[in-house]
Amino acid sequence: MSDKTITSEKELLAALSKPDSDAAIVRKERLRQKGFKMVMAVGGAALGLTMVAIPFCLPAARRICVPYVPATPVQINNIIQCLKTHSKPQGKIIDLGSGDGRVCFACAKEGYKATGVELNSVLWLWSTFLKYTRGFRSNTTFKRRNLFKENLGDYDAVTVFGAPTLMQALEPKVAKECTEATKLVVCRYPFLKWSPNYTYGNGIDCVWVYHKPFIANQTLPAMYLDLVEFADHPLHPSNQPELDKSKHLKDVTDSIEKSEDAIQQNVQRDLNSPFEHKNERAQMR
Ligand SMILES: C[S@@+](CC[C@H](N)C(=O)[O-])C[C@H]1O[C@@H](n2cnc3c(N)ncnc32)[C@H](O)[C@@H]1O
Repeated sequence: MSDKTITSEKELLAALSKPDSDAAIVRKERLRQKGFKMVMAVGGAALGLTMVAIPFCLPAARRICVPYVPATPVQINNIIQCLKTHSKPQGKIIDLGSGDGRVCFACAKEGYKATGVELNSVLWLWSTFLKYTRGFRSNTTFKRRNLFKENLGDYDAVTVFGAPTLMQALEPKVAKECTEATKLVVCRYPFLKWSPNYTYGNGIDCVWVYHKPFIANQTLPAMYLDLVEFADHPLHPSNQPELDKSKHLKDVTDSIEKSEDAIQQNVQRDLNSPFEHKNERAQMR
């Protein structure tokens, strides 16, 4: 086809009816292939992004909604301090909803055997990739499964960074499966119906330790009081007019003091004689 400008309908029809030269056919074919490749690349990227995004959006559609929020270094440090103080040295730990595996890796560095269960397939794949690339092959295991299908009684300690509805749903499972030796180290949202045996840290970095026999709460922990889904909970103050609030406050203060003392002693002991402390742990095994 010539490069002459087409000015009328007649000229256009004439140009279209003329057969293409070989060069024009090649040029057109190249253009078609380029267009196809671009459509495939954009479509592939969009599909890939959607596939990665779906597992992160799905929690919003679940009854028990627990989005992925990674633990901060301070939270992880608090979890580790609690485990070192209250749980069996080098024991078996399970992180419920293990995300990218950061809690499991931190536990593995301290000598624990850590298992992570995670529903999100992208996070599970990523944690498995990190396990092999960062040298945690022998002391971490990651399972892509629903945490409610895992028997908690098989572990010395259970760590969980959950959400309000998850903590409530976990209570019957924990009560049934955990033994007196199982330590529960809970981050960000505490259990609703139990008081922690120990508390460590403050605000969003707070970590609570629970074990059997559980201490019954007299009222819901403060952070649940403003959540509408817990307004009907039997421990909500509006449903129990005769609550002895001053006793409850004293119990909570006592448990915080006890916990801080224990952790302080542990840190001091580590600083003073790390070698002795290691020996003591080895004997406990
Ligand atoms: C708040 S994140 C905590 C992640 C990780 N433990 C950390 O501290 O970095 C909660 C995780 O639980 C996962 N999750 C939610 N429901 C679950 C279920 N039923 N079974 C297994 N994992 C679940 C989410 O996909 C998310 O990765």
